[in-house]
Amino acid sequence: MFHKFKSYFTFLLKSTNEHGVHSPFVYNLVTQCFYADTNLALKSAFLKYKKELLWMDEKINITDFGAGSRCFKGNKRAISAIAKNAGISTKRAALLIRLVQYFKPKNLLELGTSLGLSTYCLHLGNPQTNIETLEGCLEIARIAINQLHKFGVKPTLNVGNFEETLPISLKNKTFDFIYIDGNHQKEATISYFEQCLKSVHNDSIIIFDDIHWSEEMGKAWEIIQKNPLVTVSIDTFQWGIIFFRKEQEKEHFIIRV
Ligand SMILES: C[S@@+](CC[C@H](N)C(=O)[O-])C[C@H]1O[C@@H](n2cnc3c(N)ncnc32)[C@H](O)[C@@H]1O
Repeated sequence: MFHKFKSYFTFLLKSTNEHGVHSPFVYNLVTQCFYADTNLALKSAFLKYKKELLWMDEKINITDFGAGSRCFKGNKRAISAIAKNAGISTKRAALLIRLVQYFKPKNLLELGTSLGLSTYCLHLGNPQTNIETLEGCLEIARIAINQLHKFGVKPTLNVGNFEETLPISLKNKTFDFIYIDGNHQKEATISYFEQCLKSVHNDSIIIFDDIHWSEEMGKAWEIIQKNPLVTVSIDTFQWGIIFFRKEQEKEHFIIRV
């Protein structure tokens, strides 16, 4: 926790808004997406999805594959508690919707479905996008797929440890948009990044959640942003966003969202 506070303080000192950005690609992204308004109907649709989960008191058995939770002890959790603590915040949900609206990806991959809150945002941003989403915990995946179907979303949901499902999902495919929100550990995050590299193209985007969650995650983010294939990297504190555009000079941005 201390690491997160320290990182946030550094972030506040170093971060900028659109005025500190000279790259037209990043300037447009910041002004037309990061700082744009979110369509109210889409935001209410997300809130409705979340509200339904917050009413579900049923307790389910959790299989934890990732870095574990700072909020929960034990393996039985109420669905409502998972939605409250592990799901995407409303502010980030709105940004995720806008990012998908802005980039209009054809093929999108998500690591860490949980109850489908972020999956639903990815769908809301562009209902035509093909979504493949990966989740390790069978019980959580069962709730997620029911809820997503109820809200008219039909993603491909692959259940299992990312170690097994990710290579299968990436095989012979390219993705325009990848959202990584599961297993916040250094080695795992770097490994997912390296595996994803063979399935991205010049205009792909990868978003890493919780890059300052721990010192380890901070180090993983540093290694990722320094990779020579990554040209643009943006630290928004909660998310690290990277691009591979060859026409762009390698540059790192720290931006308040
Ligand atoms: C923070 S939650 C995802 C939240 C979701 N993106 C949202 O905003 O609603 C992370 C999820 O990733 C899953 N996960 C973590 N590590 C995993 C692994 N190694 N393999 C498969 N699933 C994993 C967990 O079961 C958990 O449901």
